[in-house]
Amino acid sequence: MLILGIESSCDETAAAVVQDGTRLLSNVVNSQIDIHAQYGGVVPEVAARSHLEVINPVINKALRDAHVSWGDIDAIAVTHAPGLSGSLLIGTLAAKTLALLKNKSLYPIHHVEAHVYANFITEQSNSGDSALTLPSSQPRFPMLALIVSGGHSQLVLFRDHGDYSLLGQTQDDAVGEAFDKVAKMLGLPYPGGPSIAQAAQHGDAHAYDFPKAKMSGAYDFSFSGLKTAVLRRLQREVGVDFTFPSHELPGLVNEQQRYDFAASFQRVAIETIVGKTRKAYEEHHPASVVIAGGVAANQELRRQLREALPIAIEYAPIQLCTDNAAMIATLGYYHTWRHEPTSPFELEIQPSLSMIREVDV
Ligand code: KG4
Ligand code: ZN
Repeated sequence: MLILGIESSCDETAAAVVQDGTRLLSNVVNSQIDIHAQYGGVVPEVAARSHLEVINPVINKALRDAHVSWGDIDAIAVTHAPGLSGSLLIGTLAAKTLALLKNKSLYPIHHVEAHVYANFITEQSNSGDSALTLPSSQPRFPMLALIVSGGHSQLVLFRDHGDYSLLGQTQDDAVGEAFDKVAKMLGLPYPGGPSIAQAAQHGDAHAYDFPKAKMSGAYDFSFSGLKTAVLRRLQREVGVDFTFPSHELPGLVNEQQRYDFAASFQRVAIETIVGKTRKAYEEHHPASVVIAGGVAANQELRRQLREALPIAIEYAPIQLCTDNAAMIATLGYYHTWRHEPTSPFELEIQPSLSMIREVDV
């Protein structure tokens, strides 16, 4: 079964074709990072306009790269939640129109749940893009998923496809968001995750210590306090008080301080999520652990997890950890098992829909 996936929830316009929820035929991602970098973050109106310009060419390229035509596609899966309204609208409108015109089944997909499904792609057709290093086998249930992206930080226990419980989540900032904000304070370029990771390589991860938030829920996170602790320490370090505007701080930070703050912040942020992941592992004894979302690309996270968990984790390649449509098509395939398709006349965007839909917590 061939599914065309379409993703446009934030700043990537993407389309992909996946066979039987496991084999990648094509994966096209048009990133707007260069456009938003000049503003230091995603500007919603700019994002929507850019999606509108490229959505059709991106979809056509996904079909071309997969060497398939519309007749070969069995269904369309599209991100309808959560995300920026204007951005979600463009992808869903394209999907609804194509479902009607080409007479295809249509499946609305939850972006955060889909991130987890990047881990189910274990094969790639030769005709696709450059070769990816994929996991050797699909994860097994029960599966513990750590979802860490720019918008989400959560631990989810999957008993089966579509049958999951949210163990805990961030109560304020997502971990990727904290990386982005701390990078800004240090004068490191957007997106902050990769630039903090790179700067951290030259820094002392124990130069500074920051407190870890105490949460009432065993698996809940909070990164807003860590972000403020970094800001206050940075202000003290460069000799200004708390009223000093944070956007002027980068001009006062020297190179070694920048590296040491990046490394120390990264260590504490990662220790927090790894500690909770280990606790969840010990309580639930999952058969597999998977990491999903853009922050899964972080090497310090991978290193700490290797030390903390008794089982090995197989990682999806970075191209499938950050936003893409292959994960949307993959989850779409598993939806065809247990859901009726949605009418193109009824599919609506749900910008703030949480992942807790089919759970019993
Ligand atoms: O999953 P994603 O592409 O988009 C969302 O759905 O949010 O994640 C983007 C986030 C950004 O906050 C980015 O800074 C972070 O992932 N990120 C990283 C790394 N690469 C991307 N964070 C830490 N280390 C990295 N190497
Ligand atoms: Zn995402």
